[in-house]
Amino acid sequence: MANQRPIGVFDSGVGGLTVVRALGERLPGEELIYLGDTARVPYGSKSAETVARYSRMSTRFLLERDVKMIVIACNTASAYALEELKAAVAVPVLGAVEPGARAAVAATRSGKIGVIGTLGTVRSGAYPRAIAEAAKAAGRAPVQVTAHPCPLLVPLAEEGWTDGAVAEAVARRYLDELAAAAPELDVLLLGCTHYPLLRGVLERVARERFGHEVKLVDSAEAMAHATFALLALHDLARMSEPVRCALRCYVTDDARIEEVGARFFGRPLGPVERVDL
Ligand code: DGL
Repeated sequence: MANQRPIGVFDSGVGGLTVVRALGERLPGEELIYLGDTARVPYGSKSAETVARYSRMSTRFLLERDVKMIVIACNTASAYALEELKAAVAVPVLGAVEPGARAAVAATRSGKIGVIGTLGTVRSGAYPRAIAEAAKAAGRAPVQVTAHPCPLLVPLAEEGWTDGAVAEAVARRYLDELAAAAPELDVLLLGCTHYPLLRGVLERVARERFGHEVKLVDSAEAMAHATFALLALHDLARMSEPVRCALRCYVTDDARIEEVGARFFGRPLGPVERVDL
């Protein structure tokens, strides 16, 4: 039966485990297959063509494992490859950008939203486009979006340097640049798999730099809600007894996977299989 099949999730590396974690909490009855392209991470600094090619390979790998739906956990891959993948495959495909955009529009009062992400995600213009569409769909006046790349936050999160002087200094530098461009924003959308790990420091520094409360929107949580809704729409939710977040985990390189993977997953990952795409 279609709804007993697993959900396939892919990412450029370990960051997408923040999405797997959110999916496990929102959909405890579903079986998940995760593919992290750790041999080729980061995607954030690569060209659109390369990211789209890698994304096609990951999608093929998951379809070969008979998934009922594909979740693109990686914001950069969503920004560059979602439309192509949606058109190319027979199962529903969900990216990170739309759910995050909708959540940000719902959260803003001032109508001014900041988005932080990788260079690729910012360059693609995907978030401003999706936020404009989400505002229109919600019957809101046009929203002003300022997107700012924060590439150094990715290695900081992977190293586990998510608090303390170095993380604060880097967050301050990026948020100062953002505050100079958009001093009135009241929502900061975390448009990258890695940023939820830095939520505490980003929240603190944002309050200090903007001088008012800034709501942080986590695209991982928004994706878990959107996955639930998309499964229901296609009548694909699992019907049997819940399997407590059964996870099959594949990576293209397994150096440091136990240590770094657990950081993003919030607990030990269990068995991980190394594969070639
Ligand atoms: N997963 C990427 C994203 O969410 C961050 C890491 C990378 O650059 O590959 O955009």
